[in-house]
Amino acid sequence: MRVKASALFRSTFGVAPAAAASAPGRVNLIGEHTDYNGGPVLPVALGARTTVVAGPADSGLLEIVSTRDGQLARLDYRENRAAGWGAYVAGVMRELVAAGAAAGGARIAVASDVPIGAGLSSSAALTVATAKALATLARVPLSARQIAGIAFRAEHDHVGVRCGIMDQTIAALATPGHALLIECASAETRQIPFRGRLLLVDTGVRHELARGALNERRAECEAAVARLKLELPELMWLAAWPAAWLARLKRALPEPLRSRAVHVVGETARTRFECSAPELDLVVAAAKRAGALGARLSGAGWGGTALVLVDRKREARITAAIRRAFHRAYGREPPITVARASVGMRREPVR
Ligand code: GLA
Repeated sequence: MRVKASALFRSTFGVAPAAAASAPGRVNLIGEHTDYNGGPVLPVALGARTTVVAGPADSGLLEIVSTRDGQLARLDYRENRAAGWGAYVAGVMRELVAAGAAAGGARIAVASDVPIGAGLSSSAALTVATAKALATLARVPLSARQIAGIAFRAEHDHVGVRCGIMDQTIAALATPGHALLIECASAETRQIPFRGRLLLVDTGVRHELARGALNERRAECEAAVARLKLELPELMWLAAWPAAWLARLKRALPEPLRSRAVHVVGETARTRFECSAPELDLVVAAAKRAGALGARLSGAGWGGTALVLVDRKREARITAAIRRAFHRAYGREPPITVARASVGMRREPVR
């Protein structure tokens, strides 16, 4: 990826890049839609990464190009008008400039093998790698947490996706062979050894709706908290509602707020959270029948990738069973890749 990004930078701008960084996509082992409710999550970084190489440009100017389409876009990041992936890069730039951690303008070339819209957090891989590359370009040594914060605010405040902190935090802090337990209310993290093999089954379903649906889901969770504050005035996060008071919670909330709250409070009710898709359900059922240790959707849901935890001895059998079941139902075979817990953001040599 680094070589591709550097080559694109040179062919587009006629000079070599001066800084480079990369960051991974992720899957989440447990705790979906809990991060923005102040609950715990347990993501793992993937081997698939996004690499960003950068060089200086005139003040106020962002010149961005990606290997996906090779189209150069020029934008003034101080205006709020960037569209598509440019909005994420512009958000990062605004955050960095506001923090005094970036020069006034930049050229950027991007190469990535993190699939877009597959529930693997291609957006956090982009924002974290961009923040790291631009801070490196400006010679400002930011910590992984500071980078994660900048990337989070770029997406949340500037692009307007009302996400939690999971994706940016794992992309910045991951270490190989570990999952990362993030307590999202306090942002406390703990590295948890994880040596499992994960199959990623891409359902091929891409919901343009996912961002709108996520924002709506979050608004429902916030409405639930507002009502529950009558019961428990000090309640800050939905995830902090005492699990022993589930009956009281159910009495206090009308639908659909009740279902949302039950999901967040009772981790075990996850499958009733209504963010799945038939393709995901089919993969999970087929994987479990074939002897998988566990299987579930990853990320926001509504399509994207299903995650299957396997024992190496049964991997071939499980893979074949998923392919067969999916083909029978949808007339096509889903791409399946193997993932292991990988490394987070890092600086890259520029050539
Ligand atoms: C998206 C968001 C995350 C998280 C997941 C659901 O990936 O970006 O912050 O809320 O959905 O767990």
